[in-house]
Amino acid sequence: MHFKTLRDAGDVRGKRVLLREDLNVPLKDGAVGDETRIIAALETLRWLGAHGAKTVILSHLGRPDGKVDPKYSLRPVAARLAERLATPVGFVDDCIGPAAVAASRALADGAFVLFENVRFHPEEEADDDGFAAKLAESGDLYVNDAFGTAHRAHASTAGVAAHLPAYAGFLMEAELAALARLTENPVHPFVCAIGGAKVADKVGVFEHLLDRVDAFVIGGGMANTFLAAQGIAVGTSLRDKDLAPATSILHHAVERGVTLHLPADVVVADAFDADASARVVLLNGVGNAMILDIGPDTARAYANVLLGAKTIVFNGPMGVYEKKPYQAGTRTVGEAIAAATRAGAVSVVGGGDAAAAAHELGFADAMTHVSTGGGATLEFLEGKTLPGVAALER
Ligand code: 3PG
Ligand code: MG
Repeated sequence: MHFKTLRDAGDVRGKRVLLREDLNVPLKDGAVGDETRIIAALETLRWLGAHGAKTVILSHLGRPDGKVDPKYSLRPVAARLAERLATPVGFVDDCIGPAAVAASRALADGAFVLFENVRFHPEEEADDDGFAAKLAESGDLYVNDAFGTAHRAHASTAGVAAHLPAYAGFLMEAELAALARLTENPVHPFVCAIGGAKVADKVGVFEHLLDRVDAFVIGGGMANTFLAAQGIAVGTSLRDKDLAPATSILHHAVERGVTLHLPADVVVADAFDADASARVVLLNGVGNAMILDIGPDTARAYANVLLGAKTIVFNGPMGVYEKKPYQAGTRTVGEAIAAATRAGAVSVVGGGDAAAAAHELGFADAMTHVSTGGGATLEFLEGKTLPGVAALER
């Protein structure tokens, strides 16, 4: 990866820095819910403030589909940013046009303004060059810190880089450096703990990592699909209808000498909301029940594999961790990754639900790196080029 970072930008004092962050945070009753992405943006923001930049912040929120929709306004995010930065953060209700440009020019050195949701304009997702040029009118240089949106080729994540000197922010840099430890000469054994609903969503991750890892430990709904592909009856469990992708991954794993660890015991219930019926069974005892977590023997076996690893990627929960009766598998796996990390392993959490599970179950702080990226991290792990990163490399 060859791009300039904020440290290469020279003296930013008095310059207008057009900063793309991923402030796509969940809102609850008009206020910010989980603020992980706000916290992750603070390093770059504080640095710019301390170095006297006039910082103009761009972000999207949700998927308003190119229309103004108050439900997706970034205004509550400005308030939370101001609290976290302990300094006022202005707000302009459009990201382009005279009011936006005037606000960028009126900023004092070290001050901040957040512009309204870039996705209120259909040109954003279309990566329209005229729109990118209008965004660029509010900056003297451009900094992309929005790793979580780096898999989108949009005007504010990619197109605008053609109009201004472009740099990566500290979060972008840290994310890519952490992920590079998984793909560039990882220390072996390298193990991927992977879960989530469907194999179909993660075929690319499997195929890319099969050339790199020594083993996968597999949980979540996707484990059921692999079991079914091996002819094991999984009752009413969630699984992909099409078993072909799982079958082909199983073949490729054998060809490449990669071990795919699958559950030997499982936690089942009579239905998704029949928690009282939760029980541990061996694979031949699933019957008409539904698998909702890996079982304790499986969790211990997975933990042993992970304890011996030197590089680990955690890419999805082992079960329905949101519900107490089905948390144990993900917790045991998470604790094993934490212990391996304390013993010197590199551990990276990212893609989909993995980070949420790590935070919820309290093992996030023990990891080497927890990515703010869902889709972006998945696409990185699939070996794809991220357009937001590529735009910085031009
Ligand atoms: C995300 O949360 O996945 C990123 O912010 C990107 O959002 P998107 O999936 O709506 O493009
Ligand atoms: Mg997404």
